[in-house]
Amino acid sequence: MSYFTKATFLTSAPSISHLSDFDGMEVAFAGRSNAGKSSALNKLTRQNSLARTSKTPGRTQLINLFELDERRRLVDLPGYGYAKVPLEMKLKWQKNLGEYLENRKCLKGLVVLMDIRHPLKDLDQNLIYWAVDAKLPVLLLLTKADKLKSGKRKQQVMMVREASMAFCGDITVHAFSSLTGIGLNEAENLLLDWFEVPRKLDASL
Ligand code: GTP
Ligand code: MG
Repeated sequence: MSYFTKATFLTSAPSISHLSDFDGMEVAFAGRSNAGKSSALNKLTRQNSLARTSKTPGRTQLINLFELDERRRLVDLPGYGYAKVPLEMKLKWQKNLGEYLENRKCLKGLVVLMDIRHPLKDLDQNLIYWAVDAKLPVLLLLTKADKLKSGKRKQQVMMVREASMAFCGDITVHAFSSLTGIGLNEAENLLLDWFEVPRKLDASL
């Protein structure tokens, strides 16, 4: 059993400015539309329908909060970069996201999900810069890793690790698959560190 299986849906917020203050810890999941954020949250929590997944990009428009315990939460942020969203809305969302990363005191880390076949697009890079600027640790999950053969997968991970050194931040890179569970243990372990969950407690759950 994993610590994350006890996640329950807490609430949705229409925008970052609607989030009320929280003196516990949050870890947020961000990434381009369709990158696999909701699928990764479902995999992590072992709940098939906790976060809604969709074949239609841009599906998650609200910020969804999931509670692990009274002091810890996971946050599913709306995807960015969806072509059909009007430019004005895109810019507004980017500004909001920047402010959230900068000002949300309870944020302990940012998970950025990127399709392993198309990593580090401009908006991903912006987000990573903001997070590093805000002194947040970042976990880059290269999603849909099941779509690549092992050799190519490793090559992509190495390439992103090397490229991410340029950000000069606390950045960890792993391949991930919601289908096969590639990278699940690695992601869990890092999140447990960010959430300061004692390992004994985790083992007993
Ligand atoms: P938005 O909420 O729209 O921003 O998307 P999202 O990032 O939450 O993506 P979502 O989890 O809804 O997944 C998008 C599509 O990718 C769905 O069709 C998923 O089934 C598929 N998908 C997600 N993760 C994986 C994976 O690890 N492997 C494979 N093969 N497909 C995946
Ligand atoms: Mg989603």
